[in-house]
Amino acid sequence: MKVARITLSDRASAGVYEDRSGPEIERILNESFGSGIEWQRVVIPDERVQIEEALRRMCDVEHCDLVVTTGGTGPAPRDVTPEATRAVLEREMPGFGEVMRMQSFARVPTAILSRSTAGTRGQTLIINLPGNPKAIGECLPMLIPAIRECIRHLH
Ligand code: MTE
Repeated sequence: MKVARITLSDRASAGVYEDRSGPEIERILNESFGSGIEWQRVVIPDERVQIEEALRRMCDVEHCDLVVTTGGTGPAPRDVTPEATRAVLEREMPGFGEVMRMQSFARVPTAILSRSTAGTRGQTLIINLPGNPKAIGECLPMLIPAIRECIRHLH
């Protein structure tokens, strides 16, 4: 299984702080799918053109089974991850974002500020997660059964 984790953050990509979100995605997916995952690791700024380019490369050139992004899903002017994702998706799967917002909202009322989406491009499933490492721990584990099933359906 080949998986890309893409961190979208102006500050992490500039080295202002360490990216803790990408490694958190990796930890959770390694735990769920075993350590046989071949990883592609990307950290880039909140620039729509660069995000679209990275997403297309991970789908069309690297042929990843799964691409998980983190960050850039909120309401700030620089948050453009959902727009970049929608531009490359062939089919949108709104359920991933819906369930993350709904399940997180009870404990974290700001969860509905995330505009994250998901969908498929070719045989790749793309999922947006919020940027906070704590949010990744709250959201990614509940998506594992659907991720597993979706990847099976795409092949
Ligand atoms: N979801 C969960 N489960 N836990 C969180 O702490 N933070 C929210 C939201 N979703 C959060 C969450 C906040 S404060 C914002 S602004 C949005 O995710 C968008 O975050 P992003 O721009 O880093 O993607």
